[in-house]
Amino acid sequence: MPDAVLVDGFHALKHALRFGADVRVAISSDKGSALALADELADDLTVRISDLVTEVPAQIFRDLVPRVHPTQVAALAVRPRRRANLDHLSRLPRSAPVVVLDNPRNLGNVGAVVRLAAGFGATGVVTTGDMDPWHPSVVRAGAGLHYATAVERLPLEDLPPGPLYALDPEGEDIRSVVLPDDALLAFGSERHGISPEVRERATKLVALPMRPQVSSYNLATSVAMALFHWGGPPPPAQSGQDDAPSSRTVM
Ligand SMILES: C[S@@+](CC[C@H](N)C(=O)[O-])C[C@H]1O[C@@H](n2cnc3c(N)ncnc32)[C@H](O)[C@@H]1O
Repeated sequence: MPDAVLVDGFHALKHALRFGADVRVAISSDKGSALALADELADDLTVRISDLVTEVPAQIFRDLVPRVHPTQVAALAVRPRRRANLDHLSRLPRSAPVVVLDNPRNLGNVGAVVRLAAGFGATGVVTTGDMDPWHPSVVRAGAGLHYATAVERLPLEDLPPGPLYALDPEGEDIRSVVLPDDALLAFGSERHGISPEVRERATKLVALPMRPQVSSYNLATSVAMALFHWGGPPPPAQSGQDDAPSSRTVM
């Protein structure tokens, strides 16, 4: 299968299916438990998961999947076309920011950021540097939510258009800054922070509130605070009808 993505764990499979992934094969060493989870957490998907998942013996599951997820579910899905993601990321006008991770090093952080971007309805996540943001450990940490946003790696010079707000403890206090919908929100690497190239290109450097003597926050928590400051999706309508979780709810 060309460009296959390992979707690891029940929650990742649930999200991948909800957000339109082309899942070609799914296995479990305990299909009964997978279906019980579906009943409990995703009854919109019970029938699909039942049709899709093939039960295999535990030893075969362990042989096929490098790191067995506690839910004992794994699937292979088609990676979205890069061209389609790039078109989405560069389309203007943009109604939600693009998160830019400048040479991130930690796979778990990148997955957590994809999850945040999906939850907040960001336009997408762009990484620079050599890490593949579709690495299986990133997809696992992102709980399959790569399919709910656009995730691509790009050279710095090819970033999508838009004003670049670089998050850095030396910047202007974020509480006095309005982050526009078409912003690129850039975050530095865990070890080195924002690169000189991004700093140079930034429209504005923006700081998160932090008391003296604390040097920085974790990368993913910084993205969470910045996206929260930007705003996120509109609040649910106040009518009783809209209180029910929709099929696009991120759980
Ligand atoms: C773990 S920090 C990087 C720490 C790095 N040692 C440095 O010198 O910047 C990762 C990224 O999170 C963001 N960040 C962390 N704390 C921040 C703060 N107080 N204000 C703005 N951005 C922050 C920045 O984008 C930073 O580059």
